[in-house]
Amino acid sequence: MTPKPSLDRKQSWKPANLLAPVPAVLVSCGGTRGWAPNIITIAWVGSVCSDPVMLSISVRPERHSHAVIAETGEFVVNLPSVAQTRAVDWCGMVSGRTTDKFTAAKLTPAAARTVSCPIVVECPLNIECRVRTHMALGSHTLFLAEVLAVQVDAALVDARGRLCLERAGLLAFGHGEYFALGRSLGRFGFSVRRRRRKPQAPLQGRPSRR
Ligand SMILES: Cc1cc2nc3c(=O)[nH]c(=O)nc-3n(C[C@H](O)[C@H](O)[C@H](O)COP(=O)(O)O)c2cc1C
Repeated sequence: MTPKPSLDRKQSWKPANLLAPVPAVLVSCGGTRGWAPNIITIAWVGSVCSDPVMLSISVRPERHSHAVIAETGEFVVNLPSVAQTRAVDWCGMVSGRTTDKFTAAKLTPAAARTVSCPIVVECPLNIECRVRTHMALGSHTLFLAEVLAVQVDAALVDARGRLCLERAGLLAFGHGEYFALGRSLGRFGFSVRRRRRKPQAPLQGRPSRR
């Protein structure tokens, strides 16, 4: 049976980039081949492959960072926490053509492990990337990049080496608004995992009275 359209509950809108929430990240670039270190805020970022580990960012050709990334072939995706929300917004409002954003936003550059551009120290996670290919899509250029290394704030790693991402206070973005991530609703695969049975009381001592 074909389901009836629920016209009373839905409005049909023209195409829009409404995929949400997405991360809003600080992408650092430059620091090599004569380019000063720079930071651009990017919301159009996504994981695209597990092996090799790859991600993509989409950048408008008119951005200063576009020329930097196209020429150097390197960038770092720095995941901000809510503490960096103002810097995230600000780095998306001014251009590295005229401003040293690291200094002005009081963000600390540090050497990456595998690429020449700096990481942003204040961001709890830093993903070092090398561009594999790029594609002009229209308004934006898609840069497809391989992840070469990841830096993780040691405060996010527990005694067993597990990454406790819930401690990072990561920032989310959707439809022009910044959001703090909420509480955890379960771990990957929880819906199919068998519940552990309650451990039985040891059979010792006097039997309990009924
Ligand atoms: C939350 C947010 C998300 C943004 N996402 C993108 C994006 O995905 N792609 C893009 O080209 N510009 C994006 N921008 C705009 C650039 O960050 C902005 O134009 C920036 O000033 C460019 O810096 P640059 O000239 O130093 O490269 C975003 C801005 C904000 C505030």
